[in-house]
Amino acid sequence: MENKEISQAVISRLPRYFRYLGELKDEGIERISSQELSAIMDVTASQIRQDFNNFGGFGQQGYGYKVEYLYEEIGKILGLDRTHNLIIIGAGNLGQALANYMNFERRGFLFQGIFDNNPNLYGKKIRDMEIRPMEEMENFVREHNIDIAVLTIPKTSADAVARRLVDNGIKGIWNFAHVDLDVPKSIQVENVHLSDSLMKLTYNINRFEQGCYS
Ligand code: NAI
Repeated sequence: MENKEISQAVISRLPRYFRYLGELKDEGIERISSQELSAIMDVTASQIRQDFNNFGGFGQQGYGYKVEYLYEEIGKILGLDRTHNLIIIGAGNLGQALANYMNFERRGFLFQGIFDNNPNLYGKKIRDMEIRPMEEMENFVREHNIDIAVLTIPKTSADAVARRLVDNGIKGIWNFAHVDLDVPKSIQVENVHLSDSLMKLTYNINRFEQGCYS
């Protein structure tokens, strides 16, 4: 694959392609045209072709895409052709909910540990993981080759914790704390704000009520 810069808009659409292709693959469908994919996903066929052209196209004109091949190639682009070791920092409502969600593992995201600074939580088990004290975090990250940390702690302590993670070799942070983290450019951060999605929803409700959509 050519090493060119791909727009974030294209990248943000890849997980959805990957999900749909996974479902098609599970249904035993071997080949699909961009028109058929377009109808299932409610995206134009030209958008699909343009998106895939960023990665060399994946298909043959008039022949359609091989579902399994496309699924695997998009998986590789998304870094899903290998497993990732994760830890969760902050074993409160959100941290525990994420730790309990088993579907991440199907995609190769392996939760290896969960940490908190509240002694009342130490030793409590979430699935097969014990909540551990923060003092054990650094050694754990190094010993278990942790590459991704999930931050589900208040924003007041997020930067300090992020620095400790970076110093111990973390490559990416899935950040739920409501703050833009101050980390080196080499560290990839994906901020998640569920309320942003909710605000998009209310915007669309408003637009609909004002008659902007047919
Ligand atoms: P929570 O209060 O249930 O859990 C927070 C946990 O973090 C507690 O167990 C606490 O002991 C621990 N903690 C605090 N400081 C720590 C530190 N320095 N090191 C290790 N552990 C520490 O809160 P909840 O509901 O789980 O939310 C967690 C955070 O995520 C909050 O800051 C909240 O604002 C944010 N949040 C973000 C959302 C998003 O969409 N981005 C959605 C919901 C919550």
